[in-house]
Amino acid sequence: MGRAFVYVILGGGVAAGYAALEFVKKGVSHGELCIISEETVAPYERPALSKGFLLPEAPARLPSFHCCVGSNEERLTPKWYKEHGIELILGTRVKSVDVKRKTLLTATGETISYRILIVATGARALKLEEFGVNGSDAENVCYLRDLSDATRLVTVMQSCKGGNAVVIGGGYIGMECAASLVINKINVTMVFPEAHCMARLFTPKIASYYEEFYKSKGVTFTKGTVLTSFDINSEGKVIAVNLRDGSKLPVDMVVVGIGIRPNTGLFEGQLTLEKGGIKVNGKMQSSNASVYAVGDVASFPVKIFGDTRRLEHVDSARKSARHAVAAIMEPEKSSEFDYLPFFYSRVFTLSWQFYGDNVGEVVHFGEFSGNSFGAYWISKGHLVGSFLEGGTKEEYEAIAKATRFRPAVEDLGEVEKLGLEFALAA
Ligand code: FDA
Ligand code: NAD
Repeated sequence: MGRAFVYVILGGGVAAGYAALEFVKKGVSHGELCIISEETVAPYERPALSKGFLLPEAPARLPSFHCCVGSNEERLTPKWYKEHGIELILGTRVKSVDVKRKTLLTATGETISYRILIVATGARALKLEEFGVNGSDAENVCYLRDLSDATRLVTVMQSCKGGNAVVIGGGYIGMECAASLVINKINVTMVFPEAHCMARLFTPKIASYYEEFYKSKGVTFTKGTVLTSFDINSEGKVIAVNLRDGSKLPVDMVVVGIGIRPNTGLFEGQLTLEKGGIKVNGKMQSSNASVYAVGDVASFPVKIFGDTRRLEHVDSARKSARHAVAAIMEPEKSSEFDYLPFFYSRVFTLSWQFYGDNVGEVVHFGEFSGNSFGAYWISKGHLVGSFLEGGTKEEYEAIAKATRFRPAVEDLGEVEKLGLEFALAA
């Protein structure tokens, strides 16, 4: 025996929070919806964990960053869910799902049935062990995916003031954590295999600007190499990091950000997967009509580029969740998801936004010596991607609008000369 709901959201992260708000806006009845989450707190804005949460002074703490404050909407506290008759089943891992029977089995042994399931299980951080390095469980090695990781990172950081940290990985986590560590007065060395930071998105020129900025804050870069092993003392603490290039870096703490894997495991063999995620259509509906997938775990058609993508960013989690709920609650009104990919980050006093796709030829513009510059990506004669550092709200809106509009570009030199004006005039 167990409980039965009309709608079940599996996962209690960003997408779950935004889906819940949309369900309420669309008039879900009391008792119809539940959220099952392994985390012990109600859905929150995960981006805060590598930014405000790590500040040494006046750090962000729950309940301040529950969803949906990241979009300047209502803050959904546990009380909000109660008032709207939404069951929050927290601290509960789902260990299996039977999509034919429409049931889930929790680790506590309860069977929960649904009419419609929204999968919002997000992703897990990749472990060093998956790259052949042991030591992830050492006392001073930190990962960052959820609130418990962030709480642990703060404790380790506080015990290392003035000490040395090695950050493994030059992606989002690496860059944002390195900045936070510096702000906490910890000396940082970043280690990653690529030739420059943020290799998945940045051009060498953009990366060079950020690396110089980080260096001016005292960060050291060790690029083009990887970690091969840790030296661990008798107390279970890492005391040095050994790299493939033969060097040894003494450390007080290590932060690892080497990518993620979407949490699709419960559905392998039951739903169609693509690009590492659950394949969905323009309504966020999977190969089983009663199962929708949203957020990091969903591979969805990106209409503007005519292909299927899995994105790992908060804006797509929020919007795909809303879209799925609208498609479920008002099928006759719902259209195909038409999403323009949007990524952003904030570190130190810097802040950038990117829209679209980073393929084709690149044109840089603006003042790389100042703090307002950008880049356009032009593919097959059209603008397909735009990046801007240090823009105003209006400027960011302009690059987003221009990228969606995909204006034709004949002369790259002309675009370079026009710079931001090109987007403002498009
Ligand atoms: P999310 O990971 O948020 O939630 C998944 C939920 O499912 C979790 O609650 C998890 O416990 C639960 N779950 C998984 N399996 C389960 C199971 N079997 N049973 C029960 N529960 C289960 N993006 C961006 O655009 N700008 C930014 O600045 C940042 N910053 C940032 C910082 C940090 C530290 C991280 C880790 C990530 C970001 N991101 C980001 C990425 C962004 O946070 C991410 O894309 C969204 O959180 C994805 O939302 P989802 O709801 O899909 O997954
Ligand atoms: P990432 O994919 O951004 O970067 C992974 C990095 O790991 C690569 O840049 C590479 O340098 C490094 N790497 C890969 N293999 C390695 C190895 N063997 N040794 C050392 N380094 C290695 O992933 P992440 O930084 O771990 O971020 C995790 C997730 O969190 C992503 O989904 C990301 O989108 C999300 N996130 C997003 C933001 C944002 O959008 N501002 C901020 C934080 C986190």
